[in-house]
Order: sequence, then C-alpha cells, then structure tokens
Amino acid sequence: MELSQELLDRLLAESLRARDLAHAPYSKYRVGVAILDEQGRIHVGANMENASFPQGWCAEPSALTAMIMAGGKRAVAALVTGPGPDIITPCGGCRQKLREFSVPEELVIIAGDPGGIRQRWTLAELLPLSFGPDHLKF
Ligand code: THU
Repeated sequence: MELSQELLDRLLAESLRARDLAHAPYSKYRVGVAILDEQGRIHVGANMENASFPQGWCAEPSALTAMIMAGGKRAVAALVTGPGPDIITPCGGCRQKLREFSVPEELVIIAGDPGGIRQRWTLAELLPLSFGPDHLKF
C-alpha cells in the first residue's frame, strides 16, 4: 500500500494520540502504536503497565487486538511512537506478534516520537528468517 505523506501524518497523529493514553506510571516510558490494516483503516493501542509488573503489556499487542476485533486481517504499516530522542524499535516479542498478522516483506514499521518520524524498516529487516504460521502447515 502506498504510504503517502498525508497517510504518514495521520498515522503519526494517531500513534501520538494513543501514546497520550498509555498507562505507564512505573517505567514512565509511554508507547503508542497506529496500525494500518489491509483495508486502509487505522487501529491504535498503547502500553498498559500493572502494579504487578510482569502483568503489563506493550503497545503493539494493544493495537493488534483492536485491528483483529475490527475485522482487520493484515497489518501493512505500524507507526510506533516513544518519547524520543532515542529511536524506538519494537521489542522482540512484539516483532513476533506483528509477524502473526502480516507479510514480513510488506509490513512497514515506522519509528517516531513527538518530534516526528525518525526511521522505517520492513518487518523482514527487523525479524529475519522469521518463524510464522506457514511453519505449522506441515
Ligand atoms: N514497550 C512497548 O510498548 N513496546 C515495545 O516494543 C517496547 C517496550 C513498553 C513496555 C513497557 O511498558 C515500557 O515500554 C518500558 O519497557
């Protein structure tokens, strides 16, 4: 899917809006994600921490769950925003979760922060030689 400047601007705004709603009182590291699905729709999520620390979860599964519940099948772009200035990249577990609902060569992961978009990769670049659903079709 063509990622026009207008679409990138919308994804950044939605990701930052989600980031504002993050529940991260322990790490203070707020993360927002805006996922573009195969139908061109945007779904958002944020990290949700917990007083029982290991029970918290990342922004990516929040956004993926919103996509699936809305009937989306495939993530084609995911714009992840952190606080900056360091460039945020999805953690290892989140790369694998994104893998479940994407074609790794197609899914574009975009890193941003309140200052704007910083960098982009395909999921295939961030998670090479990935294990995915096709491995279980034996
Ligand atoms: N976090 C995410 O939401 N996504 C990532 O890919 C990296 C880390 C969250 C988890 C935790 O709430 C906070 O950032 C600090 O690790």
